[in-house]
Amino acid sequence: MDLRSLPPEIGKAHSDFAGLLEACTDLDALLRLKGAYLGRDDSFAARMMDTLKASPKEQKKELGIVINALKNQWEEALKSRQSNLEELRRQRAAMSLIWDVTLPPPLPSRGALHPLMRLIDRLADVFRPLGYHVEEGPEAETEAHNFDGLNIPEDHPARGSADTFYFQKHTDLLLRTHTSPVQVRVLKRLAPMIEQKGGIRFLAPGRVYRKDEIDPTHSPMFHQVEGMLVGRGIGMQHLKGTLDYAMKALFGSSADIRFRPSYFPFVEPGCEVDVRCPLCSGTGCRVCKSSGWVEILGAGLVHPNVLKFAGIKSDIWSGFAFGMGVERIAMMVSQTPDLRLFFENDQRFLAAMGGMD
Ligand code: PHE
Repeated sequence: MDLRSLPPEIGKAHSDFAGLLEACTDLDALLRLKGAYLGRDDSFAARMMDTLKASPKEQKKELGIVINALKNQWEEALKSRQSNLEELRRQRAAMSLIWDVTLPPPLPSRGALHPLMRLIDRLADVFRPLGYHVEEGPEAETEAHNFDGLNIPEDHPARGSADTFYFQKHTDLLLRTHTSPVQVRVLKRLAPMIEQKGGIRFLAPGRVYRKDEIDPTHSPMFHQVEGMLVGRGIGMQHLKGTLDYAMKALFGSSADIRFRPSYFPFVEPGCEVDVRCPLCSGTGCRVCKSSGWVEILGAGLVHPNVLKFAGIKSDIWSGFAFGMGVERIAMMVSQTPDLRLFFENDQRFLAAMGGMD
């Protein structure tokens, strides 16, 4: 075909055509190419028609033949490419309907214990060889167990309705603010047998409630694990040895913990225990509030009044108690910077936590 009587851009467009057509792998691209070559406005075909109009009369016939031949050639090629692409699309759609009946079905997920429950189980495993069994108490507690039996004075701020969820006033019930009321219940129950048993030791895990705003390290409902040991001649050394053993079992032998003096009405002396923040290795981050340490438990030697209230002779028996924050420890073990993740039940988070222990 003699294209010399057409503008050079048409010659170039024609030689590019085969390559461009080949590059169209879907129908949309093909339509765009068709528009550029054969469209009514602003296409190569339209430009050829302009050339034809502007050409001298005696050349019109011959030029018209060339232009028609070109257009037909493009049109044919586009059509055949279009039917190829349509066939390909049909085949793909058909393929996606083919079922391989020999494939095993996707297994339904089996579910698993929540990471916090697994951590509680693990704590129970750490303490079981030391002779601790697991006790439970109610979440709807009486003031007598939650406060009075724990030597917490009438005017203590924790008793206020700003910190504690109370049920209707006349019921005397509240949502326990800690697991320590289980101390009161178990001591009372086991007091008559303390002599035969040679002492008392137990772990009491469970939910507790406080009027706290939700943020990365606080929630109005969280979990504690209470621990208590009563025996003869029990002192601070026993508490320190026990907690050091437990934290090393939990965080590894290089776990770094520190004791700070603190005050709780039901222990004397009282302390708080911190773990060096494994999230930032002590350099400071959101979880440890830049201090490098995270408080994980309160503890101390059982106040003689707590033993006396339960009917245990405090001149013979002494003991220690501790209350751990389960979420705090879970955050440390799993390096999770936001406690809310434990309550949102996002399957991806829970699945990732699968390897927590
Ligand atoms: N019950 C205390 C708290 O919730 C923790 C604690 C338990 C402190 C036992 C001393 C002894 O903060």
